[in-house]
Amino acid sequence: MLGLKTASNSEWVTIAAANLEQILIDHAHCEKKAAANGMAMIARYPDRDQLVREMIALIKEETEHFEFIFEELQRRGVSLTRDRGDRYVQELSGHVNKNEPRRMLDFLLVAALIEARSCERFSLLSKCEDIPADLRTLYHELLASEAGHYRAFTDLARAYFPREEVQQRLDELLDIEAAIVRQLPSEPTMHG
Ligand SMILES: [Fe+2]
Ligand SMILES: [Fe+2]
Repeated sequence: MLGLKTASNSEWVTIAAANLEQILIDHAHCEKKAAANGMAMIARYPDRDQLVREMIALIKEETEHFEFIFEELQRRGVSLTRDRGDRYVQELSGHVNKNEPRRMLDFLLVAALIEARSCERFSLLSKCEDIPADLRTLYHELLASEAGHYRAFTDLARAYFPREEVQQRLDELLDIEAAIVRQLPSEPTMHG
């Protein structure tokens, strides 16, 4: 899906479906962090008009996703707990180049890959018969939105960097992403 080089471990969705409240809490934090990352990108690159415009749209959507999942938790009588962190995102972010302009390219492509993997996970959740139908519908709707975010980040990369450079680095990061996913233990988190 979206160029990802490895599929998620098949046992992940079984673990996720059996621990829905934990998945929803972790998912809410993912949406919150996606919105926060949009703000961080504006803070880093305030003079890049197209980037700022795209990030404003993204922040609105991710904040709405956060609201959807928060309300889903509330309906179940569950409060948010503290964010326990995301090893997948931390490991992937560790590969961001320290120096500009490559740093900006890497921030855009790493964000694109996180969207792509989230999209794959939503697809698995939306097809899982052990998950309530209304939640499966919500996952299906989110899937389309996150695929749009993947395109927004890759389009921004191509707007600011030469096409060949984007493709080469995307290919490298796809290999790195696949290696990270293969070695993560299957846990009841969105990216676990
Ligand atoms: Fe989202
Ligand atoms: Fe997203």
